[in-house]
Amino acid sequence: MSKYASWTHGKLPLPELLELKRRGQKIAMVTAYDFPSGRISDEAGVELVLVGDSAAMVVLGHDSTVPATMEELLLLTRAVTRGAKRPLVIADMPFGSFQVSDDDAVANAVRFVKEAGADAVKLEGAGPTLSRAQAIVGAGVPAMGHVGLTPQSATMLGGFKAQGRTAEKAERLYEDALALEAAGCFAIVLEAVPAAIASRVTEALQVPTIGIGAGAECDGQVLVWHDLLGLYEGKAPRFVKRYADLGDAARRALEAYVADVREGRFPEEQHTYAIPDEELDAFEAWLGARV
Ligand code: KIV
Repeated sequence: MSKYASWTHGKLPLPELLELKRRGQKIAMVTAYDFPSGRISDEAGVELVLVGDSAAMVVLGHDSTVPATMEELLLLTRAVTRGAKRPLVIADMPFGSFQVSDDDAVANAVRFVKEAGADAVKLEGAGPTLSRAQAIVGAGVPAMGHVGLTPQSATMLGGFKAQGRTAEKAERLYEDALALEAAGCFAIVLEAVPAAIASRVTEALQVPTIGIGAGAECDGQVLVWHDLLGLYEGKAPRFVKRYADLGDAARRALEAYVADVREGRFPEEQHTYAIPDEELDAFEAWLGARV
């Protein structure tokens, strides 16, 4: 085997996403924030892993995504890329990392690729984001767009609520998605958008749409790891489907551990290390002679 094996070895080729859309094959995307979630996502066969700035809420305990920093997202992305080999790993550009200028956006996108091994980045919004997306793609970093409910601007949008629910707002959303495609985005996340509008956007775009609360007609779906697995305590949005209750399972396991420790049931012999009898005798003799 070549010493200089390609980095793409085993990696899903990005253009394959267009093929999946053409063939009508749905794309599965999930968020991940560390090595085990990256590895499990890979083993489960997802195509796309997003290191979302949702980490600010579900991992770091903030009440919005706004406080997420580049350094935090870089650290999490590094861990995920060590675990997720075949899926494309997309790093979410945190608030402040692309708002200031195109140059800043490119520099931060490049950091995700060079320092954390990301395959692509995602950035929220349209309008000023268009030139950022274009600059990032122009610098050779694949970019994913995100329209509809964009949590980094939740305050301006009036909270965490569905978008595009009037004809005028739906028209703007439709135009924004087309403009992001024209700017070079390889896929667009549609978040909390009426299914009928998401369906029209999906028909209009060459690149895949990835829906979250945007109905079944999108080319793919994304869910947040903690929502999907029942690890997040807050009120889940209506678009969340919970596939497991790991939070409850973890709590019950820890309660059993605490009880075992307190009652002396853990550790048992199988959890401890032995020492040969003669070594123990010698040690005891040394201890007895010690003043
Ligand atoms: O940060 C995130 O997890 C996201 C997804 C909800 C698309 O942006």
